[in-house]
Amino acid sequence: MAHRSMHDLLAPSLSIDWPNMPIERAEGTKVYGQDGRVYLDFVSGMAALPLGHNHPDVVAAIREQAGRLIHAPVGVYQYDVLLDLAEDLAAAMPGEIGMFFFGNSGSEAVEGSVKLARYVTGRQMVIGFRGGFHGRTLGALALTASKAKYRHGYQPLPGAVHGRFPYPLRDKLSPEGATERALQELDELLLHVVLPEDVAAFIVEPIQGEGGYVPATREFLQGLRERADKAGALLIYDEVQTGFGRTGEMFAAQHYGVTPDIMAVAKAIASGLPLGATASTPEIMRKWTPASHGTTFGGNPVAAAAARATLKVLREENLPQRAQRLGAEATTALKAMQVRHPEIAEVRGPGLMIGIEFGERRPEDGEFTKSVLQHCLDLGLVIYPCGTASSALRFIPPLNVGESDLSKGIEILDKAIAKVRGR
Ligand SMILES: Cc1ncc(COP(=O)(O)O)c(C=O)c1O
Repeated sequence: MAHRSMHDLLAPSLSIDWPNMPIERAEGTKVYGQDGRVYLDFVSGMAALPLGHNHPDVVAAIREQAGRLIHAPVGVYQYDVLLDLAEDLAAAMPGEIGMFFFGNSGSEAVEGSVKLARYVTGRQMVIGFRGGFHGRTLGALALTASKAKYRHGYQPLPGAVHGRFPYPLRDKLSPEGATERALQELDELLLHVVLPEDVAAFIVEPIQGEGGYVPATREFLQGLRERADKAGALLIYDEVQTGFGRTGEMFAAQHYGVTPDIMAVAKAIASGLPLGATASTPEIMRKWTPASHGTTFGGNPVAAAAARATLKVLREENLPQRAQRLGAEATTALKAMQVRHPEIAEVRGPGLMIGIEFGERRPEDGEFTKSVLQHCLDLGLVIYPCGTASSALRFIPPLNVGESDLSKGIEILDKAIAKVRGR
């Protein structure tokens, strides 16, 4: 058979992304390339595989559920696996958050969050932050501001304005200074552009993902909480990437100790099956009246079974705590690497949500990053970039990564950077 290419069959709007590698299969932390090589996979399904590929408990749950019930639209039918999942999730969520609208993706979870906030406040404006990524459907895209190219061709996108997110390295300020400046700009936005009483919600990733693995400061999130309360607006956390143990706590909200009103979750929730949720308190959710939002596939039983199995393993194997411990060890090793390789400008982030930013002379080129990625691949490690100019790497192995694989990944990265430096 002639070699098929995605270029001939899939919409070219899908970027030919790094490393665009043909693969056969995957298992745990390994992907098996069509080139016959086995690679260590630190992309983790773009943070959607907290247990690595094909965890046996998840596979067993999917198989069992597929034999019982694959699809039944929620509302027309009720099925226990989804109610069980809602109970499991409620036990893991911060504060009073304990009611859910299930969809199929992160974007849908964000759309649901914004619709909920608009519906219950009767207001339309939502304030997002530059560097934030919330998805690519039109509503979510209105809030995404990590790269202007994602919005190009779709403007104007109504109902959203963007504030500054504190980014100490790029702002060339201390975390306190960057926080103060971001909150000051937000207050100016609320004075000059949008009245506080028109704001339905502030939406923020507690740790920006696509934008560069940039953690918010606690004071920034506290500042948003205070402003939301004062304006009668809601605070939405987009925990699509930070959720399910990645930060060393189940959710970043718990890591920071600042609780939102609404949370969007997806990615890691079901170990790779399409599932997402808009989550909120019963008090807020009860104002979202029947038929004001709906779905055909959301809360699919097979995805729900995969999610229950994922949560069980996360809980029973204490994987958030493990992420905290391994993340601290990895951070120590990466910071030692920074001493050897001064091109590393910063190693940041809690748990196993670590960003490694290169201080490129022309960061808009991302050239250093690209060469590091290529050398990593040659040495058998697949790792993925982030940041507006792709000047950072996301270091996100699965939370159950073996210690030897973790060390191997760090070793490969070290060698790859050394090779690029020696060019
Ligand atoms: C923080 C965040 N929100 C939303 C999304 C959109 O999720 P999806 O691609 O599942 O629609 C992503 C995806 O990368 C994300 O990282």
